Amino acid sequence: MDKFVIRGGNPLVGTIRVSGAKNSALPCMAAAILTEEDVTLENIPQVRDIDTERRLLVSMGAEVKLGDRLLPHSTTISFRTLTLPEAKYEIVKTMRASSLVLGPLVARAGMARVAMPGGCAIGGRPIDLHIRGLEKMGATIVQEHGYLEARATRLKGAHLVFDKITVTGTEDLLMAAVLAHGETVMQNCAREPEVTDLAALLILMGAKIEGAGTSTIHVQGVTSLHGARYRINPDRIEAGTFLVAGAITAGDLTVADCNPEHLRTVIAKIEEAGATVDILGPYAVRVRSDGNLKAADISTEEYPGFPTDMQAQFMALATQAEGVSKITENIFENRFMHVQELVRMGANIKVDGRTATVRGAARLSAAAVMCSDLRASASLVLAALVAEGESILDRVYHMDRGYERFEEKLQGVGAQIQRMGNVFKTRNGEAAAD
Ligand code: EPZ
Repeated sequence: MDKFVIRGGNPLVGTIRVSGAKNSALPCMAAAILTEEDVTLENIPQVRDIDTERRLLVSMGAEVKLGDRLLPHSTTISFRTLTLPEAKYEIVKTMRASSLVLGPLVARAGMARVAMPGGCAIGGRPIDLHIRGLEKMGATIVQEHGYLEARATRLKGAHLVFDKITVTGTEDLLMAAVLAHGETVMQNCAREPEVTDLAALLILMGAKIEGAGTSTIHVQGVTSLHGARYRINPDRIEAGTFLVAGAITAGDLTVADCNPEHLRTVIAKIEEAGATVDILGPYAVRVRSDGNLKAADISTEEYPGFPTDMQAQFMALATQAEGVSKITENIFENRFMHVQELVRMGANIKVDGRTATVRGAARLSAAAVMCSDLRASASLVLAALVAEGESILDRVYHMDRGYERFEEKLQGVGAQIQRMGNVFKTRNGEAAAD
């Protein structure tokens, strides 16, 4: 199992590049189910979750060509035939987002058999809102033996109101609605850029969608969709993670190939914490810090609020800020797994329900720590970059799920970080974790 060895103390200086958004790539790849023609996606990150999704689509009968040496970050998916509208538990248990194939499978094939995702490190992760929306659109859904089976001769347009704002729920039902008979109105939708990315691809494929990116989306169902080529957005969470890395290490870091428009609340909070942030045009942001950081409170909310996926990273920053920061996690019920590991490195953090109180500035000392989920892992890397001594981070496969070549990118701007373990080549020769 791979580990990271990180020696703290180096400020990060230079330019670091952001990959495509994992959480856009996953629904956009699933959208290929909706047509028999080729769907080519560019700016796809080479991360473990994308490989998992590739295996899932291939198991259904897709031909998935990963990028070549000229375009390593593109993929072409062809669902000329859909032989098996099923997402097996062996795949779903490793990636909850597999439930994103539910809507498109019912829309394309009239049926779907998808393993219930079960929980994960950060919470229960139910999909009841996905199910309720499909039933409202005329699907009959039976749940047994840990699977759900959905059937519908043809979904019909409906008026859907989400009890809670759900990103993949919005995406799943949007993909169901584009081939439904009639109009679908979806209210209380997620407004995340990843939803807008998916809608842009679907419109290119011939779907009739209005309002993506707002809380109300209108869809006029069509009878078929054609292929398309689409470049997905940069990963706003990877970009935010790098901005925090520049601030926490008292560096001078330019984060390139990002979209500053998607980072407004994260930038505002990093500035409130005492760093200087400059937007260098439409694709780059520069962060500088003299190391004097100030406490700032955050409360996670759906987009455009402060993202839950940045909570753990910001908590690492808060451990170095003078004063008391209150960090409230409103989206998931168990997203403080990083707290105990940060405390083992010397942080002063007390959790009471959904709020963590962080007293800084704490002198962190290197330690052997354990990664538990994707963003908690990033938080531990950030802490290790400023801790005194050499930290060992175990189970970094969590990072490889959503951060492409993370240690190489950080090495490129001065971090002392090495991967220990087996590195194998992906299909097109790029290095990736085993
Ligand atoms: C997406 O997960 C992201 N994953 C998550 O990123 C992200 O943290 C989350 O949105 C919130 O922004 C992908 O896009 C692949 P939700 P998702 O449905 O869609 C409850 C990362 O680190 N809920 O918006 O699964 C749910 O329990 C990952 O990249 C229901 O109750 O999250 C949660 O409390 C982690 N019933 C809240 O809604 C449902 O049917 C928001 O969840 C669906 C969700």
